[in-house]
Amino acid sequence: MSKVTVVGAGNVGATCANVLLNNKIADEVVLLDIKEGVSEGKTMDMMQSAALLGADTRMVGVTNDYSATKGSDVVVITSGIPRKPGMTREELIGVNAGIVKSVTDNVLANSPEAVIICVSNPMDTMTYLIHRESGLPKNRIIGMGGALDSSRFKYFLSVALGANINEVEGMVIGGHGDTTMIPLKRLATYKGVPVSSLLDAEALDKVVADTMVGGATLTKFLGTSAWYAPGAGAATVAKAVLHDEKRIIPCSALLDGEYGEKDLCIGVPCLLGKGGIEKIIELDLNAEEKELFAKSAAAVHKTNAAL
Ligand code: LAC
Repeated sequence: MSKVTVVGAGNVGATCANVLLNNKIADEVVLLDIKEGVSEGKTMDMMQSAALLGADTRMVGVTNDYSATKGSDVVVITSGIPRKPGMTREELIGVNAGIVKSVTDNVLANSPEAVIICVSNPMDTMTYLIHRESGLPKNRIIGMGGALDSSRFKYFLSVALGANINEVEGMVIGGHGDTTMIPLKRLATYKGVPVSSLLDAEALDKVVADTMVGGATLTKFLGTSAWYAPGAGAATVAKAVLHDEKRIIPCSALLDGEYGEKDLCIGVPCLLGKGGIEKIIELDLNAEEKELFAKSAAAVHKTNAAL
């Protein structure tokens, strides 16, 4: 029996739960929100799609009742306010830090063995806060951002290449911020062929720039931040853990000397399995990439200092 709790039934949390349900990723899903009736209503709606889509996951929606989350293997935290057009993720820290802190306490009181996936923004800083608040072993706290940013990178690459999105490989490391993320263009490939030999420098730089502001572009279109890809990103990370997939997915991890950094959470390629982050993969970055990473880490440290 596998059990996942999703805290926050807003757009991202509900989408994550829906992906978990319809892809039969967990046996049981609990969706929790503080707003009366929202989790119950969204859960009922999703469960009414189960007979149409052949899903047989057990799903429960609750208002702030953490006892229902007891014994979860994985808990996805999406709580907090999303950004509005023109806002940076970092501006959300004041409100979201308090929310994420109390959610973490409630989650761990009921599921002391859970692996926690943090989605709330500013994501790297909220992941770091969960470490500080919980004192859990570092492998058990995963920040989702890199999974999402890498998927956006692959999307923009596939459009530029006119390629099938599933034949494109690419990773985004660094912070989950408009100016801190690092799409690794040198290492991106199309069927094993470096994309740098298929796209000219200008086209590739546009892919990188579009990826970095991927979330901001959607916030401008939608009036609030995106949810389909963020929800799918969280569900994909949850699946890698629950199913012990040993996939390498860029995620925000607590560094302790890797990439020359420590005492912060930032996006790096992580080997994900039952234990959560089972290994941090150290890429052989060139001088330019190392400089970008150091700059990104400095910016994340600065945001953390506001906690
Ligand atoms: C985004 C938000 C969820 O990147 O951070 O869309």
